[in-house]
Amino acid sequence: MNILDNLKKVRELDKQDMLGVEENFYGQLLEAKKIAESTVLSQLKNKNFAGIAILGMGGSGFTGDIIKSLIIDYVEIPVEIVKGYDLPAFVKKGWLVIAVSYSGNTEETVSAANQALQKNCELLCVASGGKTEEIASVNGKCFVRLPSGFQPRGASGYLFFTTYLVLRKLCIVNISDSEIEEALNLIRKKSELYKRDIDTDNNPAKKLALKLFNNMPVIYGTDGYLSAVAFRWKCEFNENSKYPSFWAEFPELNHNETVGWENLKGLTGNFVLIVFKDKEARERIKVRIKTTVQLIRSHFNDVVEIDVEGRSKLAKALSTMYLGDITSVYLALLAGVDPTPVDRISILKAELAKLDK
Ligand code: F6R
Repeated sequence: MNILDNLKKVRELDKQDMLGVEENFYGQLLEAKKIAESTVLSQLKNKNFAGIAILGMGGSGFTGDIIKSLIIDYVEIPVEIVKGYDLPAFVKKGWLVIAVSYSGNTEETVSAANQALQKNCELLCVASGGKTEEIASVNGKCFVRLPSGFQPRGASGYLFFTTYLVLRKLCIVNISDSEIEEALNLIRKKSELYKRDIDTDNNPAKKLALKLFNNMPVIYGTDGYLSAVAFRWKCEFNENSKYPSFWAEFPELNHNETVGWENLKGLTGNFVLIVFKDKEARERIKVRIKTTVQLIRSHFNDVVEIDVEGRSKLAKALSTMYLGDITSVYLALLAGVDPTPVDRISILKAELAKLDK
């Protein structure tokens, strides 16, 4: 029996129950829906924004990536992702700036949110508290309060779904009730399948973690929402499993990375390639994926093709993301590490905080 099916060992290793957090992803989404419903948005209602800038780093930054990828097809104003200290010059009065930081204290996000105030942008802060809550309350800006006590990356259901549904209330996100239902139902089903009680033979997340054990995951998405999700997988392998991991997206990778595997074969023999496949992708992307895998397969220890499930883009994005999130926790447990602490992020933040003293 591997450790993943030994529930006592799992509990011992996963001291802060990151697996439990992942198992409850569906619950988080339901709660996020309620938070969005009860959020008061009077300052922002019936406004025509010149553009939307979504701020956020790391686990909170995923919110902007995924929202942009889901709305870019139909939103006719610019949608800009800001992962850093400064707003671009073109973000100015008339723009809606959404500052997403789970702690509310991430300095890059706080800096860019302050710039939004200076530029008289509309500001919406999404956090569990911290400085961005203060910024919102002192300046009379909208604030979306998320439950506290999670690691930011473990609060993605709150961070993403609440923000997404708040934007729906502001008539920016256009999605039907039935598409939301479909996504939620799919996540509910997946959480039944991926949970710890389901043994490895019948659990796709545990199986995938076993394939990745002692191998470096390289994740290939396709530009758009599957690219955002590929990046998310990489970050989850980094933060939960404490594994190095890399990602790239079709079609861009066909113009560089495909060639780059030709050398260093001794090194890449312990890499596993993970490729997301959407049956509704355009034909030319399907050919690219097939040909690329044929060309580079021999450089990897294994190639895993993930068939994206769901009808709507929302369902596809969330269900694919969910598989990566929970797999990264199982991989941590196989590697014998506690998935929750991210000491190096804390050290860096503490070092930077010294500059303020
Ligand atoms: C930690 C995590 C990090 C944080 C990032 C920004 O779980 O996921 O990537 O998200 O350091 O912090 P917040 O989200 O508090 O703004």
